[in-house]
Amino acid sequence: MSSLLVGNIGELVTNSPWEGERDPLGIRRDVALLVEDGQVAWIGPTRDAPAADRRIDAGGAAVLPGFVDSHAHLVFAGDRAAEFAARMAGEPYTGGGIRTTVGATRAASDDELRATVRRLRGEAMRQGTTTIEIKSGYGLTVADEARSLRIAAEFTEDTTFLGAHVVPAEYADRPDDYVGMVCGPMLAAAAPYARWVDVFCERGAFDVDHARAILACGQAVGLGVRVHANQLGPGPGVRLGVELGAASVDHCTHLSDADVDALAGSETVATLLPGAEFSTRSPYPDARRLLDASVTVALATDCNPGSSYTSSMPFCIALAVREMRMTPAEAVWAATAGGAAALRRTDVGRLARGARADLMILDAPSHLHLAYRPGVPLIRQVLHNGVPQCRQ
Ligand code: NIG
Ligand code: FE
Repeated sequence: MSSLLVGNIGELVTNSPWEGERDPLGIRRDVALLVEDGQVAWIGPTRDAPAADRRIDAGGAAVLPGFVDSHAHLVFAGDRAAEFAARMAGEPYTGGGIRTTVGATRAASDDELRATVRRLRGEAMRQGTTTIEIKSGYGLTVADEARSLRIAAEFTEDTTFLGAHVVPAEYADRPDDYVGMVCGPMLAAAAPYARWVDVFCERGAFDVDHARAILACGQAVGLGVRVHANQLGPGPGVRLGVELGAASVDHCTHLSDADVDALAGSETVATLLPGAEFSTRSPYPDARRLLDASVTVALATDCNPGSSYTSSMPFCIALAVREMRMTPAEAVWAATAGGAAALRRTDVGRLARGARADLMILDAPSHLHLAYRPGVPLIRQVLHNGVPQCRQ
């Protein structure tokens, strides 16, 4: 059993407050953290630190749990930079570009798709992301959805079947047939590689009846539910997610009071994706309203070639703080423990005995710097399963 001690930590964000401690970040100062077998084995004052095979000196810097990016679309080909430029010149975002990516994805080889996932996964890891959810949704045939998930599963445990992203062009005039196919052969081919099922429930994508049918079929074969909901306008997606016991409803940009009430009385996490509002020049979701109603909020990147081509959780934290009135502490919690809640995981998103040793050492004394120093590469070192990933 090999051990590694991260010593001389100035500020450790544990997300594991003591009973009665008010701060959900559970910050500990001047501590060391011992890793054994990929897990956190001990946390305590640096001067009491046990001996270890190897040692990393954090030099008084801040250490945080690795980010949990609970919403990403990494299996795709092609780019839509021109669509982004058109939006910045005034075009609206409608989701119509998804079909462009579907065409490029179908034409790509497995190795091309795998290389893109590996590149983006690496990018994310260098920016502190140690857990990432990866969706299908740019294949939209039985074979292309299954291979998207098979490739995604090479990189993460949290794979999501999004065969109901949009109705592909060849089914444009018979959406019922497409939904039947998603619930039948496509789900059967995808389910062995998927942990979750997701639907884009939005005008122009899937209506609430189709979404309910697809999510219920996924649930029936043991997949957990997540929903793309209320991104482009108000709608029934959030309440559908709550009704089905979804782990998370994602986007939540246009919410009614009834949506907020439904979330507040549920176990469903509201996952906010400010990279999408940034890249589509849209109004940001009202995070304060959700937090004030005691809804659990997560932040994720939505990394995809259309609406949010960023893999950077620090960027999303900075946006959430500056544009969505989240405090830096709320945003850091949402990007770590919140993401873990959105994936119903207890092994990540926190640093306590028994948790996975997924963490980052910042080039900064405090978690506040993630929002205070936007755009600056502050992640000095990342440990994933206790293994140092890179030194920058
Ligand atoms: O989460 N909203 C639906 N899906 C993606 C966008 C995908 C795309 O534009 O390619 C999203 O924003
Ligand atoms: Fe998305």
